[in-house]
Amino acid sequence: MMSTAPLRANPHELPNPAKRDFLTSALRVNQAGELAATLIYKGQTPPIVSSHPHLRPLMKHMYDQEASHFSTFNALMAKHRIRPTAMYPLWTLAASALGWGTAIMGREAAMACTEAVETEIGGHYNGQVRVLLEMAEQMEKNGEDIGPELKQLISTIRRIRDEELEHLDHAVVNDAKQAVPHELLTGVIRAGCRGAIWISERV
Ligand SMILES: [Fe+2]
Ligand SMILES: [Fe+2]
Repeated sequence: MMSTAPLRANPHELPNPAKRDFLTSALRVNQAGELAATLIYKGQTPPIVSSHPHLRPLMKHMYDQEASHFSTFNALMAKHRIRPTAMYPLWTLAASALGWGTAIMGREAAMACTEAVETEIGGHYNGQVRVLLEMAEQMEKNGEDIGPELKQLISTIRRIRDEELEHLDHAVVNDAKQAVPHELLTGVIRAGCRGAIWISERV
């Protein structure tokens, strides 16, 4: 297994090496996830909008938010000189295929895809926020300065998490649960997301 690349940030900007490793892997997996999200919507939009023109504003709204999440993590990765996941090309293919494939199955399947993905991603971001809050609390206890970067990161991830959960609500309102077969489809996509998260945190 490949080791995580060293983070050559200003040592005063980020806490000790274990914390830095966590932040490196967190930003890497988040960038990969947001890349995938933009590609899923990019793949879904043409078939969905051509058969259901009223969904154009919703698809655009969700895509635009994903594009903004992606550029947020791209900027953080560049700033801290973190390399992307080695799986970047594979996730690019897989996410495009997932978006296009679910949209071809129909509106409900496309929405079930969003429901599944955002359920996993919402949980993933919640987990990160928990760890970052514990980190900040520990630093405070040790009399260390938390600094603006960590505070900013926590509030950024919270905002993005809320937007992902908003996408989940949109998907359910737009009949994600009517997809056939709903349990199988969301189960497979959720398992795929968990696998992709697990791998992207490591390579
Ligand atoms: Fe996102
Ligand atoms: Fe999303």
